[in-house]
Amino acid sequence: MFYQKYRPRKFSELIGQELIVKILQNFLKDVERLPQAYLFAGPKGTGKTSTARIFAKTLNCLNINQLEPCDQCLNCQAINQGRFMDLVEIDAASHSGVDEIRNIKDNIGFRPIQGRFKVLIIDEAHMLSQAAGNALLKLLEEPPKHAIFIFATTEPEKILPTILSRIQRFDFQRATLTAIIRKLELIARAEKISADEKVLALIATESGAAFRDAEALLERIVLSLGDNEKLNGELVEKFLGKLSSEKILDFIAMIFENKSEAAIKFIQSNYENGFDLSLLTRETIKFLREILILKVLPSWLNQLNHRYPAEIVGRLEEITVKIDLVKIRQAIKVMIEAEFFSRDNLPVPTLALEIAIIDLIKTE
Ligand SMILES: Nc1ncnc2c1ncn2[C@@H]1O[C@H](COP(=O)(O)OP(=O)(O)OP(=O)(O)O)[C@@H](O)[C@H]1O
Ligand SMILES: [Mg+2]
Ligand SMILES: [Zn+2]
Repeated sequence: MFYQKYRPRKFSELIGQELIVKILQNFLKDVERLPQAYLFAGPKGTGKTSTARIFAKTLNCLNINQLEPCDQCLNCQAINQGRFMDLVEIDAASHSGVDEIRNIKDNIGFRPIQGRFKVLIIDEAHMLSQAAGNALLKLLEEPPKHAIFIFATTEPEKILPTILSRIQRFDFQRATLTAIIRKLELIARAEKISADEKVLALIATESGAAFRDAEALLERIVLSLGDNEKLNGELVEKFLGKLSSEKILDFIAMIFENKSEAAIKFIQSNYENGFDLSLLTRETIKFLREILILKVLPSWLNQLNHRYPAEIVGRLEEITVKIDLVKIRQAIKVMIEAEFFSRDNLPVPTLALEIAIIDLIKTE
């Protein structure tokens, strides 16, 4: 799996979490006074587990270099392969989590076997039961000198306050589109996949703010390629069953420029090419909504910049400036209606959208 193969193995390979890396490396400069408990909070697939493992490697690396693991020595390799005795990862969401914490309580007092520190990573830490939480709390109050605890969670607000008050908190940021594209470029280069930036941007946009989802999607698309097929925008659209943002914006432009013929042809040809028109309608609504909000709230631009490539944001801005609020609102209303109708299994599947176009353009 790409997301396993390309998991960051050193701090320098983590994309977009620079502040966290800097603070952790500062701690590493003085291992004698290292804080012993950490909370890694943040959205899924943003690097919490990866960072925890890199931290554990740096602490136990045999080629001590303080700020980065060597990633070569026996300890680093053992951690990469998940067989380092002094690194324990438990999933608090699973049943065994509670039992494991009991075991750990019993044996964490013993000195590390292979390395210098015993590191305990508690994943999904918000799922810890009261009993397990209390057991851990005892440990956190007086941890053995060689023990390091890393709690990872997507829902920090659910962590017991008594635990929160004893740990160093790090908030992992949502991945930006640029960061995800950078990672996809790196994978594409390594795997010798030829793909232009636009295709990668399309994949990144589809994956919300999670590296893992983007990497998995790239992999699924690559696996679906035929022998001589190249990764291009159309292929990705086909794979997702969804048109690119660019095409949706073309469609919106046709509506606002009163090009009824082009718009109707657009609907029909996409239907013939097998695209789900209800999804097309929903995507259109999504972009009209971005335009609407941008119209009344100029700072929305920052949001857009995080989620869409610069070209798309440029086009959204352009439409926002040109079209007045009433028209945008009307377009949204009509499209919502069309979405509603399109669920009704009309005798002609293109009808709901065609009516929408005619309503919008006729009322000019
Ligand atoms: N900051 C990052 N830089 C580069 N790649 C990343 C980064 N964060 C995540 N990834 C990619 O996503 C995959 C999953 O990351 P990781 O397991 O560290 O996420 P997580 O925050 O622990 O997610 P979850 O909450 O789902 O456990 C990694 O194997 C890696 O390929
Ligand atoms: Mg994780
Ligand atoms: Zn090492």
